Amino acid sequence: MQKSAEMSERQRAYLKAMDIDVWVRRDAGADGVVEASVLPPHIAVPPATVEAPPVPEHQGPPAVSGLDWTALEQQVGNCTLCELHATRTQTVFGVGNRQADWLIIGEAPGADEDRQGEPFVGRAGQLLNAMLKAIGLCREQVYIANILKCRPPGNRDPRPEEAACCSAYLQRQIELIQPKLILALGRIAAQRLLQSNTSLARMRGQVHRLEPSGTPLMVTYHPAYLLRSPAEKRKAWADLLAARQFVRQTSDGQPA
Ligand code: URA
Repeated sequence: MQKSAEMSERQRAYLKAMDIDVWVRRDAGADGVVEASVLPPHIAVPPATVEAPPVPEHQGPPAVSGLDWTALEQQVGNCTLCELHATRTQTVFGVGNRQADWLIIGEAPGADEDRQGEPFVGRAGQLLNAMLKAIGLCREQVYIANILKCRPPGNRDPRPEEAACCSAYLQRQIELIQPKLILALGRIAAQRLLQSNTSLARMRGQVHRLEPSGTPLMVTYHPAYLLRSPAEKRKAWADLLAARQFVRQTSDGQPA
């Protein structure tokens, strides 16, 4: 390993924003990316991984199939399917480019998001912005949503029945966006999406498929966790590089 000499000033600044020392493998390219042939085996991209089909725990809201963005957003805004509607300030639908290659999915709105009606606007959101910048993306290029559209009181974990109520909304967003990649932030988002109890450590480093669409999905740490455990940022950086490489490959060589 060597300290990167080739990395651009801009990239270095982004990594600095994430508080990451920049080290690259000697065999890495100028952008710090290790080509697929030399990527460590843990980020090999298998063909369509077979995931257990989602087990519906709740019928979810009816008739979201076929809704356009306006109708879907309106239905979410009026949703009273679970008890979270009683404590929310407003729903947090999602934000960003509706034709994005990247769909970033977090857990649930926190206090800042509940107040502003937009996902990832607090401290975790600032780190998410820095993580995106580190791989050459800005917030406006991606679409950002959460498993839940409403804030759980006291920032507790989403309950399965709450996630089940919201899942049809997110599924419809996925259908409308048709992203090249879903990046799940944190254990809870990843486990809910993949209907799995597997640890985050075991879900990282591979390309999953989200059923029923088969959309590729990769997993990394939640920025709120990275704020508490900055030593893990290196692993998040590796995940981001692998995700960027995957999107580039599926874009036929076009920049992601
Ligand atoms: N954490 C999340 O998972 N989502 C948000 O929107 C904000 C913080």
